[in-house]
Amino acid sequence: MTYLPAADRYAGTAFRRCGASGLVLPPLSLGLWQNFGGNDVFETGRAIVRRAFDRGITHFDLANNYGPPYGSAEANFGRMMALDLHPHRDELIISSKAGYDMWPGPYGDGGSRKYLLASLDASLKRLGLDYVDVFYHHRMDLQTPLAETTGALAHAVRQGKALYVGLSSYSPERTQEAAAMLRDLGAPCVLHQPRYSMLDRTIEAELLGTLDDLGIGCAVFSPLAQGLLTDKYLGDVPADARMGRSRSLPSERLTPELKARLVRLNAVAQASGRSLAQMALTWTLRDRRVTTALVGARTVAQLDHLLDHAASGELDAGACAEIDVLLAG
Ligand SMILES: NC(=O)c1ccc[n+]([C@@H]2O[C@H](COP(=O)([O-])OP(=O)(O)OC[C@H]3O[C@@H](n4cnc5c(N)ncnc54)[C@H](OP(=O)(O)O)[C@@H]3O)[C@@H](O)[C@H]2O)c1
Repeated sequence: MTYLPAADRYAGTAFRRCGASGLVLPPLSLGLWQNFGGNDVFETGRAIVRRAFDRGITHFDLANNYGPPYGSAEANFGRMMALDLHPHRDELIISSKAGYDMWPGPYGDGGSRKYLLASLDASLKRLGLDYVDVFYHHRMDLQTPLAETTGALAHAVRQGKALYVGLSSYSPERTQEAAAMLRDLGAPCVLHQPRYSMLDRTIEAELLGTLDDLGIGCAVFSPLAQGLLTDKYLGDVPADARMGRSRSLPSERLTPELKARLVRLNAVAQASGRSLAQMALTWTLRDRRVTTALVGARTVAQLDHLLDHAASGELDAGACAEIDVLLAG
């Protein structure tokens, strides 16, 4: 049956400006790193993507190697575009990336012009699109001259295969250098993608200020720390949780100290009338320099629960102070 998105899909979304650019993004965006690959149930992923769009999520974040297997999340999203979302292409911000290992040999990894431009072509083919909205270099590659990497990103923009350039997990210094090069090349960096959550506040020290000075937006990834900042790790870990299913979240990560901290954070969340996951998102988005939080979801119910975080409004100063103490201790 033809998919008709909810007519009121934009009613509840307070879009946020991406740095000093003309682009705005929803507070929550959907990432397809896990749960949308060839080993997952296509119809479940499709239902999540449809629900996301129905509730005002316009931004979908991908990368060449999302799956598993590599490439399969892009291929699945391409099918969803063809089946459901193609008529709404101009309402969507679709991003992809290259920078981690993708294919065998020396040209399938890193930051070379050879790798980035070939990978973007392959991503577009899998996605069934003429262009992505944002093309990121996925991580720093100190072996490749930065001018080569930024030159390739700017070339993708000139080719019309990407509208905007992004950088992921770059240090503040390297971001400044790359941003200056990209500006000179006429393809300014619009988005940076770093990790940020209550369990990893690294970017507060410098990167957020650097991005603000440069007029670059910030799309933070893993705001739930891959699910640790939800109630599923407070007791016995459910069998279907990411921990135990994915190498990205090994069980050693859940130390007794971390578990005790999660229990205390959960008490703050409950006292403020939210779940731990909802508090984690509200906390992540409290700083206006954060443009959007890239969440993952394995079910429609999970996504709905995350989107409902906005109903409780801002965290009050008392709760923020309590969280600061708990995270510092
Ligand atoms: N640039 C980069 O290098 C990079 C790296 C990592 C991620 N990213 C981007 O960021 C996106 C998000 O990353 P992430 O998946 O780690 O984000 P996350 O939002 O921190 O974690 C998502 C996971 O949390 C759990 N969860 C979500 N909602 C829940 C709920 N309501 N109740 C209970 N559990 C819930 C689910 O795991 P369970 O399966 O355990 O239920 C879900 O898969 C990725 O898809 C990708 O687009 C980028």
